[in-house]
Amino acid sequence: MDLKRRIPFLRTSFLRMALGAFNITRTGQIGDGREAAAVEYVLANAGPGDVDDVLATIDRFAYQESFLINVGDEKGLLLDAAVRRADPKLVLELGAYCGYSALRIAREAPNARVVSVELSEANAANARQIWAHAGVGDRVSCVVGTVGDGGATLRALADDHGFAEGALDFVFLDHDKAAYLSDLAELTDRGWLHPGSIVVADNVLLPGAPKYRSFMRAEQGKHWDTVEHKTHAEYQTLLPDLVLESRFLG
Ligand SMILES: C[S@@+](CC[C@H](N)C(=O)[O-])C[C@H]1O[C@@H](n2cnc3c(N)ncnc32)[C@H](O)[C@@H]1O
Repeated sequence: MDLKRRIPFLRTSFLRMALGAFNITRTGQIGDGREAAAVEYVLANAGPGDVDDVLATIDRFAYQESFLINVGDEKGLLLDAAVRRADPKLVLELGAYCGYSALRIAREAPNARVVSVELSEANAANARQIWAHAGVGDRVSCVVGTVGDGGATLRALADDHGFAEGALDFVFLDHDKAAYLSDLAELTDRGWLHPGSIVVADNVLLPGAPKYRSFMRAEQGKHWDTVEHKTHAEYQTLLPDLVLESRFLG
C-alpha cells in the first residue's frame, strides 16, 4: 500500500483515469462512475454532520478504492492555511467536482458562504449530497455553469449569491486550466475582489497553467503578491505540482 500511495502508476484506478482524460475535459467526470461511487461510499461510511470524517472518508476512497481529482490531503493543507489567512466571509470556487475542496474551505472558514461554480450538473448533484451529509448544505452551494458562459453564471452570482463590489474575499481556481486567467480577469473587472483578497490556484504545474504563472510573475508587487508552493499532485508523492497563492493588492 505504501508504494502504491507513493507511485500512482501502480494503481489501476490511476491508469484508468489517465485513459479517461478526454472524458474529464468534456464531462468533468472520469467516465467509470467513480464519482457517484465516492458519494455512496461517503454516505455509507462517514458520520452525518462530521466534516472531518467526511473529508477523511473521501481521502480513503481516493487512496484505497478509486483515484479522484480532488485537491487531496497534501495540497489541501496549503488550501486550508490560505483560507485561514484570508478569514473570508464570501468564497468563490471554480470547479466543484465531488465537493471535497469546498468542504475543506467551509471547515476552515466556519462563518463563510462558499459558492462553487461547476460545469457538470452531475458533479454539482454529487457535491450537494456530500455537503448535505457533512451538514454544511446551508452555506455551501453550487451554480452550474462557467464564468465564461456569456453572463448567465456571473448574473446568478450577483443576483442570487450577493457577489458585489469588494465582497469577494477568497477564490479557489481548480477548473479548466486554460480559463484561469480569463476567469480571474472577469472577477477583477467587476471589482468583486478587494485589496487583501486571496486567490489560490491548483495544478499550476500539473496539468499546468503556464500563462497564469507567467502573469502572476509579471504582476509581482504591482497588482498581486504571489507565493508559489511546491507540492505534489493529489494522492501520491511522485509527481510534482505547484499551488499559487496570490494576494490582490488592488
Ligand atoms: C480538478 S476538478 C475540481 C476538484 C475540486 N476543486 C476538489 O478539489 O474537490 C475540476 C472540476 O472543474 C469542472 N470544470 C471544468 N471546466 C470548468 C469551467 N470552465 N467552469 C467550472 N467548472 C469547470 C470539472 O467538471 C471538474 O468537476
